[in-house]
Amino acid sequence: MKTTLITGSSSGIGETFARRLAAQGENVLLVARSEERLATICNELGREHGVQAQYVAMDLTTEGAGARLFEESAKRGLEVETLINNAGFGSMGDFVKLDLETELKMIDLNIKALVDLTYRFLPPMRERRRGAIINVASTAGFQPVPFMTTYAATKAFVLSFSIGLWEENRPFGVLVMALCPGVTETNFFEAGHIDKPPMRTSQTPDEVVETALRGLKRGKSHIISGWSNYLLTESERLVPRRLIARVVGSALRPRYQKDSDK
Ligand SMILES: NC(=O)c1ccc[n+]([C@@H]2O[C@H](COP(=O)([O-])OP(=O)(O)OC[C@H]3O[C@@H](n4cnc5c(N)ncnc54)[C@H](OP(=O)(O)O)[C@@H]3O)[C@@H](O)[C@H]2O)c1
Repeated sequence: MKTTLITGSSSGIGETFARRLAAQGENVLLVARSEERLATICNELGREHGVQAQYVAMDLTTEGAGARLFEESAKRGLEVETLINNAGFGSMGDFVKLDLETELKMIDLNIKALVDLTYRFLPPMRERRRGAIINVASTAGFQPVPFMTTYAATKAFVLSFSIGLWEENRPFGVLVMALCPGVTETNFFEAGHIDKPPMRTSQTPDEVVETALRGLKRGKSHIISGWSNYLLTESERLVPRRLIARVVGSALRPRYQKDSDK
């Protein structure tokens, strides 16, 4: 049975992908840790749209999670035609004062789980000469972001990894695309204890998902959601990275580094 697998689909952008795709008649397999929430969403989607909406409740940072998810989807007879690697979180603060376990977990989720799932689900897509993988990166992946350093670096990885795979897999009819949202109204900020950047317009998850589906149709390697995010990201490419880091760092330093730290 043809299915779209969406990680991090218990809330925010992932949940919105699930709702939008189910409304288009696609079967979905939802993955996140919050079992009750996933069960509620699946019941709703099945009832409202008559699709097969299933879930696997799991922590994708646990050892062997990717293998277990791949086996589970095969056991259920699902053909994953689209994989949306969306689960992710961030953190904010002076790197040396952040919790190391959390930083490493972020790398496990934002990078390791994404690579693991891509590695497992891509070969069957290539064999079928059909399929798509959307990896959720961020506008933070285009440049270093001091005081969100690990997060921005994980998203730089996702962006580079996805564009590389976009080119490798074009001859096989499989599209790999990085989706780069800017500030989006979700649980992301609360989950990571992150301050919303001032003076940045935010988007709704619906707008972000709309952008992703447009990018998919056009066969894009990566797509930035929102015009102002696009213009800001593109204009920053002309500025030395060090200068961007200095500007962002200067704005955030008073909040995260005290004179007494020096
Ligand atoms: N919101 C923004 O401004 C923004 C901007 C750019 C990029 N993004 C990216 O967009 C993606 C989705 O985030 P969001 O904004 O929609 O935030 P969100 O509402 O907090 O969603 C994060 C999702 O990831 C799941 N998740 C977290 N840890 C997990 C784990 N260990 N194992 C499995 N699932 C896990 C969460 O579910 P459970 O807690 O139930 O596990 C939730 O479904 C992330 O990759 C984020 O980096 C967000």
